[in-house]
Order: sequence, then C-alpha cells, then structure tokens
Amino acid sequence: MNSEGDGAIWAIVVAAGSGSRFGAAKQFVDLAGASVLDRSVLTAARHSDGVVVVVPSSEVAGLSSGLESGELPDGFERRVAAGGPTRSESVRNGLAAVPHNAEFVLVHDAARPLASDAIFESVIAAVCAGADAATPVIAVADTIRFRSGGALDRDELVAVQTPQAFRAEVLRLVHQQSPEATDDVSLVADAGGRVELVAGEQRNLKLTTSYDLEVAAFHLSSGGES
Ligand code: CTP
Ligand code: MG
Repeated sequence: MNSEGDGAIWAIVVAAGSGSRFGAAKQFVDLAGASVLDRSVLTAARHSDGVVVVVPSSEVAGLSSGLESGELPDGFERRVAAGGPTRSESVRNGLAAVPHNAEFVLVHDAARPLASDAIFESVIAAVCAGADAATPVIAVADTIRFRSGGALDRDELVAVQTPQAFRAEVLRLVHQQSPEATDDVSLVADAGGRVELVAGEQRNLKLTTSYDLEVAAFHLSSGGES
C-alpha cells in the first residue's frame, strides 16, 4: 500500500471543534507530555498511508506538531484542511483532501487520544472483509430515558466510538447531500449500507469535559503509554 496506489488507507482526524463543553480547544491541550491531537494523529498514522488533519481555519497556516519525523512511519503523508462549523462539515472538508484513489478511509475524533491499535485493526479488518463501514461500540452503563418520559431498553443500545472505517466510495456517497450527524457510520446505516460493529474500549473515551482529561491522564499513568 502507498498513498498513490490502489488499496491505500487514509485517515481523517477531525480536530476543528471549539470544545465548548470542555471550555477550551481540547484537541491542543497537553496530555502527559504530548498534545491530544498529536496522540490521535500518531495512532492513526500507524494504520494508514496518510492522514488529513482537520483544524480550525485559524490554525491551518501555523499548525505545529510535536511529533518527531522519526515517530511517523516512513513515506507517511500528512495533509491539513480547514474545518467547518459542524463535525460533518469538517469530515467533508477532510474527505476533499483525501486522494481519489484511496480505497479505505478512517474517520477519527482527535478528542479520542487513547484509541488503541487493536481498535484500528478491528475496523480496518471489517471493511477489508467487505463491510461498507465499521465502528467500535461499547455497552451503555446508564439507563437512558427521554426527558419527556419513557426509558429505552439499555440492552438494545450501544455507545458509538471512533475510529470508524469506510469503503472510500461509500463515505463519499453518503456525504454527497451534505447530511448532518454526530458520526459517519450512522449515515451509512441510514443509507442501507452494510455496517459492522466491533468491540470498542471503555478506555477509548472522548474528551468532552475537563474531568475526562484527568481520566485520560490517569489511564496513561496507570496503564503505560498508548
Ligand atoms: N469537530 C470538528 N469540527 C467541528 C466540530 C467538531 O472537527 N465543527 C471535531 C472535534 O474537534 C472533536 C470531534 O469532532 O475531535 C468530536 O466532537 P466534540 O467532542 O463534540 O468536540 P467539540 O465540538 O470541540 O466540543 P463541543 O461539542 O463541546 O463544543
Ligand atoms: Mg461538538
């Protein structure tokens, strides 16, 4: 595989959010000696031929990375794209920068810096085996109810994580009408595509509030480097 050849895998790391619940642009904060974004890009880079990093437009020109070139795989390519006002817009902007002959595309939230190599391998294996899309999921611990009343059957629910993997043409197709969703596998499922669910990990949390940063730092201190 290489960035120009058939069979190439490209990753889009979406990092253009404002972190309103966190209170800052969480993707750029330090987590145990490396930025949240660098951690996410580095793991994605180990499983792809190239990464498109999608950042706020104000950051595109001056985006710096603490990653040493030696840490990134040989021949690896990094592109930078400007994000949009919503996550889905940011994914589309990233997708526009993915080479046309890429066969598979991964979409990963920069805000999940603890995604494991095993999760990347699982979603990639699923699309290589013929699924249109694959996503890690975990069981839901809390009972979920509507504010207006009525609880959902927890055993029927899963929480969706990233990285999500796609056949590239499927991801391009479902984004053609500029839909909005908080993830991309849902778009493939709504379009009738074949979606595979793989085992996610509780450790693969999405940094949402500042408390989550403490939890992630704890994981790194107690569980070794990610
Ligand atoms: N994201 C993006 N572009 C947007 C919105 C979100 O690239 N317009 C990215 C975020 O940077 C993050 C991922 O999508 O890596 C998941 O989004 P979320 O956790 O909701 O992050 P924010 O939108 O930044 O946070 P908040 O919703 O609290 O403002
Ligand atoms: Mg958001």
